[in-house]
Amino acid sequence: MDPADALAELLSPSGRVNPYPVYELLRAHGPVTSAGPVFFVATGYEEVDAILRDPRFGVLDDALRDQFLPGWRESPAVLSISRSMLRTNPPDHSRMRRLAAGAFTPRRIAAMRDVVVAQADELIDGMLARGRDGDPVDFMDDFAYPLPVGVICALLGVPTADRGLFRRWAGELTGVLEPEISPAELAMADRGATELRDYFTELVAARRRTPTDDLTSALVQAHETGGARLSGDELLANLVVLLVAGFETTTNLLGNGLVVLLQHPREAAALREHPEFAPGYVDELLRYDSPVQLTSRLSTESSRHGGVDLPAGSWLMLSLGAANRDPRRYPEPERFDPWRPQIHPLSFGAGPHYCLGAGLARLEAQVAFPQLLRRLPGLALAGEPERRVRLTLRGYATLPVTVGDPA
Ligand code: HEM
Repeated sequence: MDPADALAELLSPSGRVNPYPVYELLRAHGPVTSAGPVFFVATGYEEVDAILRDPRFGVLDDALRDQFLPGWRESPAVLSISRSMLRTNPPDHSRMRRLAAGAFTPRRIAAMRDVVVAQADELIDGMLARGRDGDPVDFMDDFAYPLPVGVICALLGVPTADRGLFRRWAGELTGVLEPEISPAELAMADRGATELRDYFTELVAARRRTPTDDLTSALVQAHETGGARLSGDELLANLVVLLVAGFETTTNLLGNGLVVLLQHPREAAALREHPEFAPGYVDELLRYDSPVQLTSRLSTESSRHGGVDLPAGSWLMLSLGAANRDPRRYPEPERFDPWRPQIHPLSFGAGPHYCLGAGLARLEAQVAFPQLLRRLPGLALAGEPERRVRLTLRGYATLPVTVGDPA
């Protein structure tokens, strides 16, 4: 199939729900392939990794948005994401990232383990209470969503009572991360972005009056010490990105990962017996069904990757999900094998934008899976889980399970 047709297939509802066969159609054209004038798709592990680290590439800038998304300045969703570190190039990127990075050092993350264990235990108690009589419960509602929201809210200092507010707003906003979005979806994303911005405007005002020991207060302080360190727009945009990136993705790691474990009972039993295997399991789950399937970059200078010349001004779709299943990097890539050596999935990206929360996401999953398997040995699928029709952030809309008898 022609790369442009394969791309159209990838963006169809069935391609978004199951992109893996389409990745192989694209891979047949080489690890980097042209899919239109100055538009390329990369599916090779080595190539995606190298492009993400190559300083001749950056994230989408305002000029390109003007070209492809006329009117984007009127969209609160696009405007918000474009002012955050996720979509900013150096030197603004490094300045913003440094301000938030202090909250994500390995020591700060390790110190959150007890919070994660306690929240996971409480959620499992809730699942047991609701599923006591054999009634199915929705793992997404009862665990995969509330755990990461609770953890990121604790870090940002968002009051416990407000944690239920964000799921819909974030789900709407992240529509703008899809490679293509309809006007109706954009309107929804704008609504979600406005709600989130209004919410954080109030939280910022509260922390300005009374600072506490949380990341929001630290960023408010960075803003107040002169504006040059963090403008008001950047402050709000980064708070929104930290909240949304902090849970949408991890929620999907928990959902995608649980389904894989329940489909592989032998491997799940080994993890139940040996929770110390969790780091390898989580990295293989990230590789096997990545919660983030793609990102994109713009080239500022000409370069050559995967044997293909990429002129300055090229636009690249980087398929993390395809790179994670590159047979040159992973023998039998379609097999779930937590014993693979040197897994290093590209699910958290690479280079300057490498996920700031990778350590936190890994911690949550490394705690959650063994704890779920140990406390709920009879946990089982109760029907077909339903995928969201999303390519970039891959996950389930619903995931019905029965909890079985507690251990
Ligand atoms: C960036 C994936 C969890 C915060 C990224 C990127 C990826 C990613 C692929 C890079 C995007 C790009 O290069 O264009 C994931 C996955 C997660 C996860 C798969 C869970 C399984 C988290 C968590 C946080 C977080 C828990 C916590 C706040 C961020 C931030 C960035 C980022 C702030 C932007 C970093 C920058 O631009 O310098 N993430 N993420 N992520 N992630 Fe995560």
